[in-house]
Amino acid sequence: MEASKSASFFLLCFFLLFFSASACDRCVRHSKAAHFSYSASPSVGTCGYGSMALEFTGGHVAAGSPAIYRDGLGCGACFQVRCKNTRVCRSAGVKVTLTDLNKGNSTGLVLNKGAFVSMAKNGKAQELMRRGIVDVEYKRIPCEYSRHNLSIRVEETKKGSNHLAIKLLYQGGQTDILGVDVAQVDSPIWHAMDRDYGPVWSTIGRVPARSLYFRMVITGGYDGKWLWTPKAVLPADWTIGSVYDMGIQIADTAQEDCYPCDSGEWK
Ligand SMILES: *[C@@H]1O[C@H](CO)[C@@H](O)[C@H](O)[C@H]1NC(C)=O
Ligand SMILES: *[C@@H]1O[C@H](CO)[C@@H](O)[C@H](O)[C@H]1NC(C)=O
Repeated sequence: MEASKSASFFLLCFFLLFFSASACDRCVRHSKAAHFSYSASPSVGTCGYGSMALEFTGGHVAAGSPAIYRDGLGCGACFQVRCKNTRVCRSAGVKVTLTDLNKGNSTGLVLNKGAFVSMAKNGKAQELMRRGIVDVEYKRIPCEYSRHNLSIRVEETKKGSNHLAIKLLYQGGQTDILGVDVAQVDSPIWHAMDRDYGPVWSTIGRVPARSLYFRMVITGGYDGKWLWTPKAVLPADWTIGSVYDMGIQIADTAQEDCYPCDSGEWK
């Protein structure tokens, strides 16, 4: 356990050196936002949330540019977006959850229609829709899930039985999950998981058919920390497609040295 723990800490430091310099998440950024041209259901997206996306930020979701998507690490992150045309748009903007990648497009964000029109003032929705693409400012905000703990859905895995793949769901706060390990309850042997894509992680080796619990490394800006699930999350007879409550939630907000970009510009 100690060996794998220090290896993970080493990796953690490595990650933080790489990511923290460019990860000024709280900064207000300026870009353009469009809406999906088809009546896309929020459940469509490369993060693979499926119909669960309907529960995220009131079904308001977004596809982000590669800089926001961060190779899938940004999946599930929450953003507040508002259009800069104060005649048409509300100053509060709209809160969205990132569920998709917006490839090779100069538009930073593509919102689903419900989210896009939510940026409008009363009676201005049609005018906003007609504009189609608007200048926006946006910033990352903590995700809030009052009705859910951090949870996992057991995914299908091509590696065969006794390999485990999980999709992380309902991640609160404003941090990234950089590592996930799984262990049998009452065993000190942790099995590392690899991130397959977006919020989906799978074991490299087989896992015992016993009750399993998890630990994760999350970033809080320059500091990383471990989170342990307090109890068994998966019973020995876990089933593919089921969602299991991890019994914990993340409320941390990344503490980042973003001065001067975290200047309270958003009023
Ligand atoms: C970006 O995407 C939006 C919405 O899908 C589309 O309307 C726009 O034409 C695209 N822009 C470019 C440069 O491809
Ligand atoms: C989250 O987990 C805690 C501890 O297991 C539990 O008491 C609580 O009811 C859970 N909250 C939700 C919203 O499910």
